Amino acid sequence: MPMFEDQDILSASEQADIQAKKGTSASHSNGTDHVQLPIPGDDGEGPIEVPASKSSISEASKYMHNLSVSPSMKERRSSRNSFGTSLPIPRSKRQSRLSSVHYPAEDGRPTRPGMPPIQPTRAILASQVQSIEVDKVKKAKNMAFAFDIDGVLVHGDRLIPEGQRALEILNGDNELGIKIPHIFLTNGSGKPEKARCEQLAKILHNPVNTEQFIQSHTPMSALAEYYNTVLVVGGEGYKCREVAEQYGFKDIVVPNDIVASDASIAPYRVFTPEERASSRPRDFTKVKIEAIMVFSDSRDYATDMQIIMDLLRSENGQLGTMAKDPVSQRIPIYFSQGDLLCPTEHWTPRMSQGAFRIGLEAMYKALTGADLERVVYGKPETATYKYADEVLTSWMDQLHGEEKLPENIYMIGDNPASDIIGGNMYGWNTCLVRTGVFQGGDNDENNPANFGVFPNVLEAVQTALKKELGEDFKTHFDETINPVLHGDKADAAAII
Ligand code: G3P
Ligand code: MG
Repeated sequence: MPMFEDQDILSASEQADIQAKKGTSASHSNGTDHVQLPIPGDDGEGPIEVPASKSSISEASKYMHNLSVSPSMKERRSSRNSFGTSLPIPRSKRQSRLSSVHYPAEDGRPTRPGMPPIQPTRAILASQVQSIEVDKVKKAKNMAFAFDIDGVLVHGDRLIPEGQRALEILNGDNELGIKIPHIFLTNGSGKPEKARCEQLAKILHNPVNTEQFIQSHTPMSALAEYYNTVLVVGGEGYKCREVAEQYGFKDIVVPNDIVASDASIAPYRVFTPEERASSRPRDFTKVKIEAIMVFSDSRDYATDMQIIMDLLRSENGQLGTMAKDPVSQRIPIYFSQGDLLCPTEHWTPRMSQGAFRIGLEAMYKALTGADLERVVYGKPETATYKYADEVLTSWMDQLHGEEKLPENIYMIGDNPASDIIGGNMYGWNTCLVRTGVFQGGDNDENNPANFGVFPNVLEAVQTALKKELGEDFKTHFDETINPVLHGDKADAAAII
């Protein structure tokens, strides 16, 4: 787990130096040797280590009033300093292997990133209007939106209609015909970015580009530089193994691989022949799993919790062993996000990864007496917002040819405990909508949205546009406009 010891806080480059001097151990080709990857150095190429803004210590205690812990165990704590934990994020936008442009229409017409199919006449008209409205264009290029997805734009696979219209406006259906930069910042998970963008583009009837898209585990690709053999948990089938492969993880184990090797590890699991055939069994008593990555919601709490608990209590991630000291030999565990609840098609929000994590923390505490240290990515963690800055900056470059962060960023979310608190802490304008988790009064009492509460995403976008571009800003592009009547003769001449 990338973090610093209590007594000995070293810079990433100092740690890298030490690792370089130690060298790395032998290959693990037969799965029996432990490979220690060098800690990526701060050489301008590797990941950025962002200090954690949340404690890495388990929050389970406050949920455990009725569980008795032996007095001798009560004072036991991990040896690490929770405030020293860092969350690595990729230094810049993702590599081209993850990149792709997805459009709702599959008619093969030529397109540009993040924009609808090119309509020559409209494009010329828009550029004429923009050349006249210089001030407004400047302001439009100095603002951006970060959209939460579940509860703001969709409920599961169902479109929230105002979401489609809000995106159409930002994709150019406005008086300037200009694209207003926006990214998608979701705690959703469980699919490769390309597949999720394709699915979203169809639901939203708007283009969704992988270069403007961050899901909870996207910044965790940086962790591939720290660990060799990892357990990846959650998601449907083997999709999260695919995600981890695309992120560059080298040796990826999923719970099914372990069940296929030793079915007795999960006594309540019914393992189908198809699951056995598609898994990758090996002798896991000879493998050292270096870290656990919960990428997405567990589809089988009993099996996943049992395997995670076995690994956390093992000697350095080796199944078939039980560490005498549950802390010093414990392997790190990462969660891609911490939401307790998620709005879905169901009438009331469903439990999400945060609930799974708290369950694990409580079990771990009850079984060992120790608090479980863990790292949680996703909103509202600062690392995720910092990564959003990276993505937004490069998206600005793609849309407007200016690689800089706009000054006025609006986060639109439905969950005060993730979208809003995170945006507030990061200095963004925050808009809370009533189409998802939040169902309170005037504003959320604990984490009020600083720009306001809106019935839906369209109202939030329109209000933000008026604030930045003027009360009279029109959210429709007039195809019949005649720039001759609006600008000087030179502008008009260009289109005659
Ligand atoms: O909490 C789970 C996740 O689906 C929430 O997604 O888009 O609301 O951040 P989102
Ligand atoms: Mg949401």
